[in-house]
Amino acid sequence: SIKTIKSRRVWDSRGNPTVEVDIILDSGEMGRAIAPAGASRGMREAIDLRDGGDHLRGMDVSKALDNINRIIAPALIGQNVEDQEAVDNIILSLDDSKLKSTLGGNATVATSLAVLHAAAAAAKKPLWRHIADHYGCTPSIPLPEIQIFGGGAHASGRVDIQDFMIMVPGADSFDEVMEVTSAVYFAAGEIMESRGKLAGIADEGGWWPLFDSNEEALETLVQAIEKAGEKPGDRVVISLDIAASEFGTNDNYRLALDEHQMNSEELVDMLGGWIDKYPIASIEDPVGEDDTEAMQEFTRRFGDRVQIIGDDYLVTNADLVEQAVKDKACNSVLVKVNQAGTVSESIQTFRTAQKAGWGAVVSARSGETEDITISHLAIGLGSEQLKVGSFNRSDRMAKWNECLRIQDELGADTFVGGRPMQSTWWG
Ligand code: PGA
Ligand code: ZN
Repeated sequence: SIKTIKSRRVWDSRGNPTVEVDIILDSGEMGRAIAPAGASRGMREAIDLRDGGDHLRGMDVSKALDNINRIIAPALIGQNVEDQEAVDNIILSLDDSKLKSTLGGNATVATSLAVLHAAAAAAKKPLWRHIADHYGCTPSIPLPEIQIFGGGAHASGRVDIQDFMIMVPGADSFDEVMEVTSAVYFAAGEIMESRGKLAGIADEGGWWPLFDSNEEALETLVQAIEKAGEKPGDRVVISLDIAASEFGTNDNYRLALDEHQMNSEELVDMLGGWIDKYPIASIEDPVGEDDTEAMQEFTRRFGDRVQIIGDDYLVTNADLVEQAVKDKACNSVLVKVNQAGTVSESIQTFRTAQKAGWGAVVSARSGETEDITISHLAIGLGSEQLKVGSFNRSDRMAKWNECLRIQDELGADTFVGGRPMQSTWWG
């Protein structure tokens, strides 16, 4: 059972303060986790508690740390970490606000994840194995989505679309995914540099582009795949996170780069045109988080050809997934533990999606750290997909590298690529 809870301020990949929690057990075992932080946040996700004011640009987390020490810790001391659900329910009982704004989603998620780590340590198992055993899942090495260019809120709106990514479903192992990704990533950088289109590195490690249109990004990505010696749409496919809520809502979307205002129908048509023209296998948040009708229309028209992931649209909320299944909006969910605020709520969302035959993509945030919990979560749950950002910077590479280590233990035959996945969104 839990003997002590320690919390401290540490710093994330953007240089912002964040919350770290240590759970120390009577046995001396320990679990530690750090809260990540989003930039393009959904309006229905758990709220990070920040101090506000002038100090550290208002980003300090002393109130969240204080809540852990004063409110959460006293309620959890003596609890058995093997019962994650019971511990998470205690945390939930301490905050009756709608979006965890009392305790702070950053306080709850770091605590909940640290409990999960402590339970694995107590069971003397690697975290992925503990997760698989505890939740009755078959572990597997996931297929990653890896960003090549950043955009949207991660590159000061330099392109409207947030993530231009690749997936390598044709690879036979996670190593092979890394090798192909490295080739595409550097090919893209060389093409951009030679054309004067390279500004630097964006928030998630992808290239920060100087493109003149959103489609120029897509053209360049296709060229980079070819330059890497691959046939686009063969071993390598494209995945996009439109993050549409960042540039509009119901019937009023504004693509700054293309200087174009459009309604929902025009946005859906534009993305449909891209699906016809480019080898796109997956699209996240194609329309705004409120635009249910447009999400239904997009899913009706393209749901049998591409994976349609709800991120801001579903905010890792099981009820919203259930509603979207009924609405026939999306066919896949992004799972971000800090959007929900606890491990148990995130797993519930994952299970709801799985029951509906949906895909599930375990995902990092744009603000990350050395914490590699999500690699274990994706593998332990057998979620089959993982989104971590790009192929640069240790906050990203640490997660990919952890997958390589676990693949060594589990075997490359548990990698989900190289064969059709359960869903039909690529041939
Ligand atoms: P965020 O973006 O972490 O900045 O919210 C990630 C995503 O939209 O997938
Ligand atoms: Zn997203």
